[in-house]
Amino acid sequence: QPSTITLRAAAPFPFGAALNPNLLKANTVYRQIAAREFSSVTAENHLKMHVVHPEQDRYNWSGGDTLVVFAERNGQRIHGHTLLWHQAVPKWVRAFQGDSTAWEQLIKTHIQTVVQHYKGRIAAWDVVNEAFDEDGTLRKSIWLEHLGPDYIARCFRYAREADPAVQLFYNDYNQESSPKKLAAILAMVADFKNRGVPIDGIGLQMHTNTNQSDDRIETAVRQTAATGLRVHISELDVRINPEKKPALVPTDALLDKQKQKFATIVRLYKTAVPKAQQHGITIWNIGDGDSWIPNFCQCPDYPLPFDKAYAKKPAYDGILDGL
Ligand code: XIL
Repeated sequence: QPSTITLRAAAPFPFGAALNPNLLKANTVYRQIAAREFSSVTAENHLKMHVVHPEQDRYNWSGGDTLVVFAERNGQRIHGHTLLWHQAVPKWVRAFQGDSTAWEQLIKTHIQTVVQHYKGRIAAWDVVNEAFDEDGTLRKSIWLEHLGPDYIARCFRYAREADPAVQLFYNDYNQESSPKKLAAILAMVADFKNRGVPIDGIGLQMHTNTNQSDDRIETAVRQTAATGLRVHISELDVRINPEKKPALVPTDALLDKQKQKFATIVRLYKTAVPKAQQHGITIWNIGDGDSWIPNFCQCPDYPLPFDKAYAKKPAYDGILDGL
């Protein structure tokens, strides 16, 4: 039996995947790869507010607990995703009637209940997800509407109160393609430091594609690292079909281009982020058949390092090359 290298053995920092607990239960191959290849685990959906907190007085820990127990058994670090996101709003919150004090209590209770439930087990949380627009202004969301423009800082303070040891992250997408969004996030970090608002890290989701400029990726990674905070490439996937062609097939040429992009991103992370700030790289699920991308872009795509039968793609070797 030849000994095979794994991502977790090869990486000098945590190398993770977002997982779906239903697939862990249903699919042996998925479960084996999840255990063997990764040293960090994120919940793709099951710690989001609409799943974990479906009614005001009821929490549903089943999916999150399944993932946490799985990760603990396999010696994996757990990265929590996410306490507050404008797309993960339960029905009861949409219908919620209350003044600003009542809304404040609502998010404080949510954040502190979830953080406390996993205290000592979840190492880090994406406290707030995707609060900025592409132009660098605050996204107009249910949270901004009811909580006002300083709500992000207060969410971080509530999380810190609930667990003084957990690492607190701000997570967003397109920092590598929207310079104004990147600048706004960096300005928020500077402001938090000035005011003593606790923050430990920044997540660059990095839902990217083979046409994305390496320079812009490098700028985003370097400027984020320059804050001195931990840097997480938090949701990596690389689309090979940025043009959304309906009949696209993954040719060798496209898969090689994808491999090079994975290698470049991983190599850049390894070399540009100081060791003490390397929170790690997380890919957004495992196999192409599990990816959220085809549904999201309404086009065929193959954005992950394993194919839908869980065979390693060239992109897998690209990651190894970058490590
Ligand atoms: C996505 C999941 O992958 C999908 O399964 C779900 O339907 C929607 O959310 N940015 C994020 C993630 O921060 O939480 C999103 O995950 C992808 C975009």
